[in-house]
Amino acid sequence: MSENIAAVIVAAGKGERMQASIPKAFLKLCGRPLFTYSLATFMQVKAVSKYVVVVPENKIKNTRDICSKFFGDKQTKRINIVKGGDCRQVSVENALKALSSDTAWVLIHDAARPLVDNKLIKRVIDNTKQYGAAVPGIKAVDTLKKINLRENLGSTVNRDSILYVQTPQGFRLTTLRKAYMQARQKSLFATDDASLIQALGKPVKVVLGSPLNFKVTFPEDKILTTAILNYKRKKNVENRSRL
Ligand code: CTP
Ligand code: MG
Repeated sequence: MSENIAAVIVAAGKGERMQASIPKAFLKLCGRPLFTYSLATFMQVKAVSKYVVVVPENKIKNTRDICSKFFGDKQTKRINIVKGGDCRQVSVENALKALSSDTAWVLIHDAARPLVDNKLIKRVIDNTKQYGAAVPGIKAVDTLKKINLRENLGSTVNRDSILYVQTPQGFRLTTLRKAYMQARQKSLFATDDASLIQALGKPVKVVLGSPLNFKVTFPEDKILTTAILNYKRKKNVENRSRL
């Protein structure tokens, strides 16, 4: 049986909380559109052989041009660019339709998480193959409180029972398709893919995520991301000059 692994980068959101004039995934950070960072990282992982990028319909041509510029025409031919929907769930659904049946495993990743690293991706792949479904997560560090409608503090939540869930989330393609079909039939709505797998009654393994794999959401996140990208670039230059 084929063990092909596909990476789906969802980049079709408006980025309303970012309050920018263009979709969040197309914002330029250190000279490159946001979505190209995670796509480049997935392209470095040998086990991943297919890529789907989901973008707003009016950005399809622009996305192809951006990919050609940053990855070259040959690599760009391997990237399937598809149109997104009104919500993340429909964007993922469109990507699942675009995948051929020789794909065994699928990793769904938010373009809004540009700092995902190879090790995290490999951890998700290994655990997905072992357990059928895996997601990265990190424990909360702050004290967590419930709030009432007037935003006054309520009870404290035990933070050991809370997990910040990230992407990439890994699944067997046939199971994820089933989960999305059930969601459509039962009108289930979720902000991540694991929720829909859980709705099928299937277990999802948690693997260690990374604090750097945060979701670029608000304008301040651009400052932090740019600083980290510059730091990484400087490190790379230093490492190369030592060789
Ligand atoms: N996404 C998508 N299609 C949508 C909505 C979201 O592909 N209709 C993608 C986003 O591009 C992002 C990821 O899902 O990479 C996570 O969503 P989020 O961070 O909420 O991004 P946006 O929806 O773009 O931002 P906002 O909620 O602030 O509008
Ligand atoms: Mg959103």
